[in-house]
Amino acid sequence: MSHPIVIAHRGASGCCPENTLLAFRTALESGARWLELDVQLIENRLLVFHDDYLDRTTNGCGPLDNYSLNDLRQLDVGAGEKIPFLEEVLDLALGRAVVNIELKGAGTAEATAALLTRLFTLTQLTPEDILVSSLKRNELRRFQELLPQVRRAPVYEKIPHDLDRQLEQFAPWSVHLKKTLITATLARHVQQSGCKLFAWTVNRKGEAEELLAAGVEGFFTDFPERFLLKSGGSE
Ligand code: G3P
Ligand code: MG
Repeated sequence: MSHPIVIAHRGASGCCPENTLLAFRTALESGARWLELDVQLIENRLLVFHDDYLDRTTNGCGPLDNYSLNDLRQLDVGAGEKIPFLEEVLDLALGRAVVNIELKGAGTAEATAALLTRLFTLTQLTPEDILVSSLKRNELRRFQELLPQVRRAPVYEKIPHDLDRQLEQFAPWSVHLKKTLITATLARHVQQSGCKLFAWTVNRKGEAEELLAAGVEGFFTDFPERFLLKSGGSE
């Protein structure tokens, strides 16, 4: 396929602190039309943050949920960036990119559905601007119940024994598979159920070519600038 969907994984996280406004702005400037981010729920607000602990990516330490929202917002995540709120990234991306919101922590499905419902009413944001995904079956199912009109995707790091049943239940728009799981046979199988297949996380061109040859339609990358032209971008 000539135009794979190139998804900036945690923004342009290969060259900027991940999941920051700087990372998302840089990805957009590279021509990214798809951004991926992770959300965690703290004091009923959605923060764009991947880990359950602060140590790897901030100047704080220990579990995220040991801190108040105010304290988390004071942390330095590199290059002078703060942990963004989900709505800040959605505002940045509006009209420029689809945002894949990956539900990480407990309660993120309800909070995300509530926020999106509000933004669909109050702003130009539409369901087509969003794709919601999760490794957590219960969060994805809850989101599906609350906002079925928004596209959704299960994330898999191993193939579940009941894959077909899950695909039937979730009626996903796409399936997000760890790249090492992907074969041409599996790609055909997923696509026959009517879903797109995306691979994570792909940073080398040769690897991307192999996955595209196997049939994937898109991939998550920390280096969107390697795969995109500023003038064009992916679809
Ligand atoms: O959704 C693809 C990918 O983001 C899943 O893994 O750990 O990078 O959130 P992770
Ligand atoms: Mg993610």
